[in-house]
Amino acid sequence: MINVLVTGADGQLGSHLKQWGAQMPDIRIIPLTRRQLDICQTDRFAQYLKLYWPDYVINAAAYTDVEKAEENQDTAFNINAHALEGLGAMCKKYQIPIVHISTDYVYHATDNAPIDESRPANPKGVYARSKYAGEQLLLKSGAPSLIIRTSWLYSTRGKNFVLTMLELAKTKKSIRVVDDQIGSPTYAKDLAQAILHIIRKSAVERIPWQGEIYNYANEGYTSWWGFAQKIFELKGIKIDVQAISSSEYPSRVERPTNSRLDLHKIVRTWQVPVRHWEIALREMLSEYRDKRKMPWQR
Ligand SMILES: NC(=O)c1ccc[n+]([C@@H]2O[C@H](COP(=O)([O-])OP(=O)(O)OC[C@H]3O[C@@H](n4cnc5c(N)ncnc54)[C@H](OP(=O)(O)O)[C@@H]3O)[C@@H](O)[C@H]2O)c1
Repeated sequence: MINVLVTGADGQLGSHLKQWGAQMPDIRIIPLTRRQLDICQTDRFAQYLKLYWPDYVINAAAYTDVEKAEENQDTAFNINAHALEGLGAMCKKYQIPIVHISTDYVYHATDNAPIDESRPANPKGVYARSKYAGEQLLLKSGAPSLIIRTSWLYSTRGKNFVLTMLELAKTKKSIRVVDDQIGSPTYAKDLAQAILHIIRKSAVERIPWQGEIYNYANEGYTSWWGFAQKIFELKGIKIDVQAISSSEYPSRVERPTNSRLDLHKIVRTWQVPVRHWEIALREMLSEYRDKRKMPWQR
């Protein structure tokens, strides 16, 4: 049995790690919600390690509100950066490999080419800078680690673009969505599956981790506008979706226009399955059951 301790277990990714782990006979997930473990409390993390002696740790906890991070800089840095120093120190001390999740925002590429992991980081805004600092602190800790940079995560729960679009469609006939930011929507379920695939392969083949960084997303690219159009098309919702530029969308944060992640490294190294984003989205929508009826379902 491979024991995997998951922090931030009630988030989008954490929830899917619990679900996927439950389906894998050789993996046991030990989920820790924020209430059970604040990742800023290193001593408490160490206590949990000594209680469960997990074979792996997945840090799915993060401060993910990109806009609010601008005004809550200290909190964002404490959770996304400084906490990684403590997690890293303990994972080094007990030699427990740790997976940490980061973001396409650390690249902030200014061209249109797919971005591979050798690209220099260029984080802009508090969230992106805090996530990059977290990567650096974890690498510096010397813990056996593996970092995955992902993009545009969504799920059947939590705060995400898909659920926001479905919510807006309940009251609006027309919406405006940014069309000049290109990336890959990624179903948190697929990311969870990819992480557990890597862990299982590492455990079975005794592959050590040395702080490698990998991109992971669903395959294919679109804009937020294209993503919105596809959500409504798949749900059969009639709504006018107007394409606007980033400059027309009020935001405190400069968002990257290019989030096209090159996935070759993770596929080549770990043979992780990668689905096209439209296929993953179709599945997510079929799995999502809104508790409140949509106007067209009443
Ligand atoms: N969402 C995206 O579009 C996106 C894109 C690229 C990368 N990522 C990265 O992917 C990872 C997973 O994201 P996600 O979308 O699953 O995030 P999420 O849904 O916001 O979940 C994060 C979880 O961490 C918890 N948390 C916050 N502060 C904590 C602390 N101090 N100690 C312990 N738990 C804490 C949150 O609890 P509360 O809800 O109670 O605060 C929440 O349950 C993150 O590293 C994120 O940066 C996300």
